[in-house]
Amino acid sequence: MDIAIIGASGYTGGELIRLLLSHSSASVVSATSRKWEGKPVSAVHPHLKGFCDLSFSNPAIDAIDADAAFLAVPHTAAMQYAGALVERGIPTVDLSADYRLPKDVYEAVYGVSHTAWFEAPYGIPELHRDEIRAAPFVANPGCFPTGATLAAAPLATRAHTIIYDSKTGVSGAGDNPSATTHYPNVGDNFTAYKWTTHRHTAEMRMEAARLGSRAACYFTPHLVPANRGILTTAHILLDEPATQEEVEALYASYYRDEYFVRLQKPSLATVRGSNFCDIAVECEGNRVVVVSAIDNLVKGASGQAIQNLNLMTGHREQDGLLGVPLTP
Ligand SMILES: NC(=O)c1ccc[n+]([C@@H]2O[C@H](COP(=O)([O-])OP(=O)(O)OC[C@H]3O[C@@H](n4cnc5c(N)ncnc54)[C@H](OP(=O)(O)O)[C@@H]3O)[C@@H](O)[C@H]2O)c1
Repeated sequence: MDIAIIGASGYTGGELIRLLLSHSSASVVSATSRKWEGKPVSAVHPHLKGFCDLSFSNPAIDAIDADAAFLAVPHTAAMQYAGALVERGIPTVDLSADYRLPKDVYEAVYGVSHTAWFEAPYGIPELHRDEIRAAPFVANPGCFPTGATLAAAPLATRAHTIIYDSKTGVSGAGDNPSATTHYPNVGDNFTAYKWTTHRHTAEMRMEAARLGSRAACYFTPHLVPANRGILTTAHILLDEPATQEEVEALYASYYRDEYFVRLQKPSLATVRGSNFCDIAVECEGNRVVVVSAIDNLVKGASGQAIQNLNLMTGHREQDGLLGVPLTP
């Protein structure tokens, strides 16, 4: 498959190129950037020197010549390109938020008009594999909702309240520097942000409802001085008490066939650079604490996007995603 990455100079774009190097039948032929047009990919992503000899280009969307595409651009940019790719029959995974939510919810949450909306499957393969398989276009989920939803899914129908408390590394904000991501503000520091207003809450609520849950879902993110990774502590309040054995057995059975979900004590280090989501549970009567860890740039973005494209194009789901996590 010849692959085009729209927005290849950003963090998720660089991660797509890195991961696709080990794909059995994908090769990146087009890496777009407006700012870096004509410059070698390795000028922006020096870790890829010797692996990728492409230069960035900036073609019109109709001139993209590829068998499949990733949109790794900010929300509102993706909607300008998605339709043209779909019309030309190019299977596409969108990493932005533009197609994750119903139109009215998207417009309310993001405060913008959606000018090119259509419905797309929500790309958590562990939960929506069949829909993704048949789809020409998939909305890759947000990084927080991926780790949070995988943590809560097995208990979703038994809960009346779910509180997600997440800690994220700084690469979640993309490569554009800001006061928030400035080193003296992040290093040796730990802050909560958007305590009750983070946009990803809408995705978490949408997915809980799709899983048949009537639970009220709440979410507060925190920024930690790490480059990659999201650790989510989900406090799941059940209608009826459960036992540790019962909950462990439930998670083992729910994720029995899921290669990328590992039931073990989660930490950022044990998933770093990989597409794994590690999950562990601890039960205290009506409260179950479920902790999950993902790499925000892999299972939270580019890795999951490749997992989705593999399903859409009939490739083995793990193709390109078998890199071993990098620890310590
Ligand atoms: N970082 C994460 O952990 C993460 C996780 C999940 C999802 N996402 C989502 O994935 C998308 C990319 O995130 P990122 O972190 O890789 O962002 P980023 O580091 O800021 O990179 C954005 C990329 O998009 C390009 N771009 C920006 N505006 C554009 C436009 N109007 N038209 C075409 N290209 C444009 C940029 O290059 P030029 O400006 O040079 O064109 C750059 O290559 C975002 O929607 C983000 O919300 C990110």
